[in-house]
Amino acid sequence: MTADRRDVTPEVVGELYDQGTELLSALMGGSLHYGYWDGPADSGSMAEASRRMTDLMIDKLRVCGGRRVLDVGCGSGRPALQLARTTGAEVVGVTISREQVRLANLAAEAEGLDGQVTFHHGDAADLRFAPESFDAVWLFESLLHMPDPQHVLKQLATILRPGGRLVIANLVQRAPLAEAEETGLAAYLRITGIASIAPLDDYPGLITDSGLVLDELLDVSEHSIRRTLECVLAGLSDTAVPEVAETDAAGAAFTHARAVVEQFAATRGIGYALAVASKPARHAAVVGAAIT
Ligand SMILES: C[S@@+](CC[C@H](N)C(=O)[O-])C[C@H]1O[C@@H](n2cnc3c(N)ncnc32)[C@H](O)[C@@H]1O
Repeated sequence: MTADRRDVTPEVVGELYDQGTELLSALMGGSLHYGYWDGPADSGSMAEASRRMTDLMIDKLRVCGGRRVLDVGCGSGRPALQLARTTGAEVVGVTISREQVRLANLAAEAEGLDGQVTFHHGDAADLRFAPESFDAVWLFESLLHMPDPQHVLKQLATILRPGGRLVIANLVQRAPLAEAEETGLAAYLRITGIASIAPLDDYPGLITDSGLVLDELLDVSEHSIRRTLECVLAGLSDTAVPEVAETDAAGAAFTHARAVVEQFAATRGIGYALAVASKPARHAAVVGAAIT
């Protein structure tokens, strides 16, 4: 596992997003996740690519009206609202940032979706939902902030109804990193509050050990990583430092952050993937028990 940082606590991550969500969503097209471009000829903006990545997640989740979905690490609420609008499903979002809860509920109200989509403060490692109370769950680029992903997934497997789906989108490690890249990556993880970036190959074990079945592991790196970071860096270059940083120290921190993102963008072993899993239907579990 790359640059494992178990000192990343939920409090630290919550504060980071309390302060950074507005700037980050401006840089990333409204949501806080990587985009999806069809190919080199696709000249879509960051906002369009961001919506397309959300569409891909919606496609993998396969829910419809009357279903209840849990969005763990819901950010600004944009992906949950897109999901609710597209499918008619009820969505409950949870985030560790109180500021995000405020912004996301405002966005739901503004879209007239506040009866269908609600956002709450909570820690993914300690969710208080009843067993089997959701038809589907997604972790849209949030699992990487969590120091104990296995614990979170086991808990979500309990909350899911039998036959329900769980979809993860995450940065992944696809190849070994050089020593200098590891150092650069550690700096990136520090400023972004990421606990770890797991190797792509770890996902089958992570899913199976949580009591779920892995249905698909989709590496979308070539559609996502480089273009997203180019957009973020272009946005950072356009951002006038005094606008976001009122003191010299804050200005220096902003310049440092830009250099760290540049170095991360040059780290070739990092990719982006979706993992699609499901909880065995009850009859499958009963048959399994009868056979063993
Ligand atoms: C990169 S943002 C992604 C946001 C959103 N899913 C999206 O796609 O735009 C990571 C999200 O995970 C949330 N998060 C991180 N650690 C968390 C935790 N322990 N419990 C709940 N949410 C957490 C953050 O607050 C943030 O909303």
